Amino acid sequence: MASVLVLCLCSTQTLILILLFHSLLLVGVKAQMQVNPLYYDCSMPNNYSERSKFQSNLNRLLYRSLYNNGSDFIYTKASEGEDPDKVYGLFLCRGDVVPKDCKNCIDVARERIQRECPLKKQAIIWFDECLVRYSNVSFASMLDTSVSRILYNTQNVSRPEQFMGNLSAMFDNVITQAITVNLNLKYADNSDEINDFQRLYGMVQCLPDLSAVDCVTCLKTAFSQMSITLFDTKIPTGVRVLHASCNLRYELYQLLTSLPPLTIQGNEDQGMGSSIS
Ligand SMILES: *[C@@H]1O[C@H](CO)[C@@H](O)[C@H](O)[C@H]1NC(C)=O
Ligand SMILES: *[C@@H]1O[C@H](CO)[C@@H](O)[C@H](O)[C@H]1NC(C)=O
Ligand SMILES: *[C@@H]1O[C@H](CO)[C@@H](O)[C@H](O)[C@H]1NC(C)=O
Ligand SMILES: *[C@@H]1O[C@H](CO)[C@@H](O)[C@H](O)[C@H]1NC(C)=O
Ligand SMILES: *[C@@H]1O[C@H](CO)[C@@H](O)[C@H](O)[C@H]1NC(C)=O
Repeated sequence: MASVLVLCLCSTQTLILILLFHSLLLVGVKAQMQVNPLYYDCSMPNNYSERSKFQSNLNRLLYRSLYNNGSDFIYTKASEGEDPDKVYGLFLCRGDVVPKDCKNCIDVARERIQRECPLKKQAIIWFDECLVRYSNVSFASMLDTSVSRILYNTQNVSRPEQFMGNLSAMFDNVITQAITVNLNLKYADNSDEINDFQRLYGMVQCLPDLSAVDCVTCLKTAFSQMSITLFDTKIPTGVRVLHASCNLRYELYQLLTSLPPLTIQGNEDQGMGSSIS
């Protein structure tokens, strides 16, 4: 109602502009949840040329080996061609994502990585539900924490005291689960009731071909990189850390599709997912 009142005080041109802007915003928010990557990196200077052997290998890798042939799985690793034009690639979906949704994410990601990283021999792109990576250099089973990105919710927790302790406990627990309970997938998620009205949700994931030791190294690196950026009194309600080899995330709302239904406690931040900056 408030916005309608404001609009009525405007001239007709401004009114139309504001309405237009408003609908653009709505479209923008909708699109962002489905098709915008969290982050991508193709800063390595290595280029291939248009219509080269490398390019056709890359196209085959992204469309055939990963998208078409990998679609029954949530993780696929493949290569195409022969040296010196060989391309290595993989996709990995979040551990709770079903293959059908995974395939949709790969479809968007393979198109987007080529649009954002034209002529690049090495690139990686992260979406909420999947990541896609390719390179002319094999990266199988290799721990790689060189590229990293930390994304924060704009809201901060209302009771920062002891929150870091709860976070540490949560991540110690899920990191252990990822390399024990789910050793093949190297993925785990969990939730803890941290006080009478809030529940903390977290997840960790490594590339499944990492060794257990490298997986733990990657996740602990990610956790400490995150921790040193958090101030005692201003702790975001959610953070994600993205590495090529692993990623982790926490939120104060249920961020996954697979967790069993929980009591309604602690849902005050429900729906904050799209506010990650
Ligand atoms: C690689 O291609 C980009 C454009 O995609 C261009 O800006 C850059 O100069 C190229 N680098 C080399 C080393 O050719
Ligand atoms: C598709 O995957 C199967 C099973 O991994 C493999 O045998 C086959 O060679 C793959 N085909 C292509 C075109 O990559
Ligand atoms: C990858 O591409 C870069 C740039 O063209 C080249 O210098 C490097 O030798 C290549 N690596 C492999 C393993 O082919
Ligand atoms: C949360 O804390 C950060 C870091 O101090 C601050 O920049 C931000 O404005 C805070 N957010 C809100 C909504 O107060
Ligand atoms: C969260 O922290 C509080 C205060 O240290 C503690 O009492 C509580 O047990 C912790 N909860 C979990 C699930 O770790």
